[in-house]
Amino acid sequence: AQRHEVDQLLAPLQLSRADLERVQALMRREMELGLGLESHANASVRMLPTYVRGTPDGTERGEFLALDLGGTNFRVLVVRVAQDGIRMASEIYVIPTAVMQGTGEALFNHIIECIMDFQLKQNLLEQVLPLGFTFSFPCQQLGLDKAVLLSWTKGFSASGCVGQDVVQLLREAAQRKQHLGLKVVAVVNDTVGTMMSCGYDDPKCEIGLIVGTGTNACYMEEMRNVGTVEGEQGRMCINMEWGAFGDNGCLDDFFTDFDRLVDEKTINAGKQRFEKLISGMYLGEIVRHILLALVEKQLLFRGKPCPKLQTRDIFQTKFLSTIEIDGLALQQVRAILQDLELQASFEDSLLVQKVCQTVSLRAAQLCAAGLAAVVEKMRENRGLAQLAVTVGVDGTLYKMHPRFSQHLQQMLRDLAPNCTVTFLQSEDGSGKGAALVAAVACRGAEP
Ligand code: BG6
Ligand code: GLC
Repeated sequence: AQRHEVDQLLAPLQLSRADLERVQALMRREMELGLGLESHANASVRMLPTYVRGTPDGTERGEFLALDLGGTNFRVLVVRVAQDGIRMASEIYVIPTAVMQGTGEALFNHIIECIMDFQLKQNLLEQVLPLGFTFSFPCQQLGLDKAVLLSWTKGFSASGCVGQDVVQLLREAAQRKQHLGLKVVAVVNDTVGTMMSCGYDDPKCEIGLIVGTGTNACYMEEMRNVGTVEGEQGRMCINMEWGAFGDNGCLDDFFTDFDRLVDEKTINAGKQRFEKLISGMYLGEIVRHILLALVEKQLLFRGKPCPKLQTRDIFQTKFLSTIEIDGLALQQVRAILQDLELQASFEDSLLVQKVCQTVSLRAAQLCAAGLAAVVEKMRENRGLAQLAVTVGVDGTLYKMHPRFSQHLQQMLRDLAPNCTVTFLQSEDGSGKGAALVAAVACRGAEP
């Protein structure tokens, strides 16, 4: 009877093949809406033009600064692109939550201070290197070096930034700090940076995917299909901002009570609904809410109240990754739970493992449905019976979780059988890609 109750509780999180096909079809519809001019306003997937018109061709050269803001780590880098390859040096800097959620001025001041510290350490204060800025938030780009922030996502909420050009905000902060040597030439989303970075090694890489703190994808779209930018020739990379998929209600049938509880407590309730089903910032919270419901129904921890489990974010997504490691002894699962002051029997440990598996499987399958819509559209765009394409991927969840990538790839093969999709993990982060975009921009500017 207990087993039946558990199954009932988890059932809404288990998606059928038909469900996933529906998600895929909905994503496709939202993509078309986002790309078009007229109905643009109703689309939850914004399909933002990036002004990046091609992937690297190997002729990029030069020395660049790069910033990488919006993932787990804030990085400042120097990237040297030469004939014999790319060399990089970087530093990781912390952005305290108080700065992420304080004023825009303080945030950008902090960024400039980090750049100055980096330039000092690398002996780069005397030079003005062109800078590529990976800024992993939705921006309306008006050119390569002009990006108006549409909304903050993930844990950021710094005031006075939405509606502003982030390059301008950076320049103003530089002036406040009397830092004169700053030349921003390109702003890119992390998906774009990742695609470009992987594209340097594999010319077939025309999609970028992030499954980390947040989730998002970009891909090369035909200009003739992009209603929001003039011109019909060639291609442009589109930053989908698929994290917001479903914000217009189109995924409501798929949200469970647990998803609603997680969403309500975030600083952007009602927003980034697809992201909140998939990415690292939220999966642990979904699991925590399911565990609380199981305790309440006396199906877990003998129904004993677990005060620690009431604490938000106590069950981190990295626990999911550990708990799901193949062949991990249940004793170790117990130890992880013990750290959270949860006294788990072996049955409890098994159940927690099952909950984690259910949540991460759903995330991987939803991600596959989104990606299936992308590759199928690219295949149709190009009038091909079969498409072979590479996806450049980054993000802690994708890299650290023992099963996520496997589930994602399996489901994608199933949903898009006419596409052969290779996944290439990005090893150097998206700062390298931002530098490559900067290199093309600088070349374009030469007489
Ligand atoms: C990094 C990229 O490697 O991955 C970042 O350089 C990106 O640009 C990040 O935002 C995403 O992963 P996470 O898990 O740090 O959010
Ligand atoms: C969020 C951001 C998006 C970014 C993604 C992955 O969804 O809005 O711009 O690409 O996180 O970091």
